[in-house]
Amino acid sequence: MTLRLEQISHPQIIAALKTFVPSPIRSFVRRRNVESEKVALATARSTDRKLLNETLLPALSRGAGRALWVGCRAYTARYPTIIEACGAECWTTDIDPVAARHGRPGRHVTGDAKQIDALFAGMEFGTVFLNGVFGFGIDDVAGQDECIEGISRILKPGGLLLVGWNHDAVQDPERLPAMQKSFVRAAVPGCETRVRYDDVTHVYDVFRRAG
Ligand SMILES: C[S@@+](CC[C@H](N)C(=O)[O-])C[C@H]1O[C@@H](n2cnc3c(N)ncnc32)[C@H](O)[C@@H]1O
Repeated sequence: MTLRLEQISHPQIIAALKTFVPSPIRSFVRRRNVESEKVALATARSTDRKLLNETLLPALSRGAGRALWVGCRAYTARYPTIIEACGAECWTTDIDPVAARHGRPGRHVTGDAKQIDALFAGMEFGTVFLNGVFGFGIDDVAGQDECIEGISRILKPGGLLLVGWNHDAVQDPERLPAMQKSFVRAAVPGCETRVRYDDVTHVYDVFRRAG
């Protein structure tokens, strides 16, 4: 008898995995999953994340028209809903194909944010959220400059850019040539233009595309 793949049930797959994958490997994978869930939960509850969720996301999404969230993890999966509740059409992107599952269904593009203008060619955004990507994948100054240059090309004039970064990991993004050329600090009601913390190294900067 030949068994087609779609005829195999989920419990049968689990039983097969238990038979063929040795117990120490299964325990290791389980521990890794629990650890990453703990990290995700801690991240989601941190003070800086609270400001992002409750203040920055809504304030910078209102009137954006179209907004882009860069870098998708499990704990960012509900951000498109927050952004869209404020009236913006949300798009998401990440270099990691696996991250697509945490992005906006139907409006996610997989690719390198250093080529963000090619990924979103012909599209214009009112706000770009770039949080935790510098120092977590785009690590060198040249790459960061390329990314900001690309963002300046897909942001409409006057469009907003949130950069979340860690002062112990990367240089101040305000010093990047592309930032100096195309952006100024933004005064958005209810948001400080730069937020720093005593207990964590995270910094939020809000910029506006000049011109
Ligand atoms: C530390 S996580 C930050 C996730 C999220 N933006 C946040 O607010 O926490 C870094 C994310 O950036 C993504 N990333 C790293 N390098 C990238 C690149 N060159 N282009 C696009 N995404 C990148 C990673 O895959 C990962 O999902």
